[in-house]
Amino acid sequence: MRIDVLTLFPAMLDGFLSESMLGRAREAKLLEIAVHNLRDWSTDKHRTTDDRPFGGGAGMVLKCEPVFAAIEQLQTSGCRRIYLTPDGTPLTSALAEELSRQRHLVFLSGHYEGIDQRIRDTIIDQEVSIGDYVLTNGTLAAAVVIDALARFIPGVLGEEKSLTSESFTSNLLDFPNYTRPAVYRGMSVPEVLLQGNHGEIEKWRHAQQLEKTRKVRPDLLKKKP
Ligand code: ADE
Repeated sequence: MRIDVLTLFPAMLDGFLSESMLGRAREAKLLEIAVHNLRDWSTDKHRTTDDRPFGGGAGMVLKCEPVFAAIEQLQTSGCRRIYLTPDGTPLTSALAEELSRQRHLVFLSGHYEGIDQRIRDTIIDQEVSIGDYVLTNGTLAAAVVIDALARFIPGVLGEEKSLTSESFTSNLLDFPNYTRPAVYRGMSVPEVLLQGNHGEIEKWRHAQQLEKTRKVRPDLLKKKP
């Protein structure tokens, strides 16, 4: 899969894209990601990308010209052009999985104050929010979406099975995990995990998932098929 990210703050993604799972996925060519500075498509000597809003009001608005030029250069036929914004469709595990099956994604990171509506009306296919809070710009939101979808690309996670048991795949939160030592500062690991009876362990884990979900996210239980 190919991903292009358009942002005014490309350096915000430097560490994120080279570390850990994502760094390995890129090295293994499972993912090809390019980050672009929107200013590279501005045409004046001050490298302007925003302007005052028509109708007045505080703040600046991202201009049409550099965004249209950038997207028109980067897009390929059939690619999905996504604008990150708090008033977009909420990101879910299902949406991340759907995005992971695309061949080419172009992410446009928003501006603090907003972008010219004509961009959203014509060269954006989908608007995505990562939650009901407002970030200073959409660059971290793009990183979150990329991280969430990358995990669904075959080969990115070490063990494919880690996807199936985890939170949200089944609308259940995760079960508790333990590792050695079996007793730490007087706290013992639940006995059932030490006994090696896989049927009993599965049952215990499922019960833990239900209890945790009921307590923390009862809304998820209503969504369960
Ligand atoms: N830009 C600013 N806040 C955002 C959010 N919550 N989701 C996506 N993009 C954003």
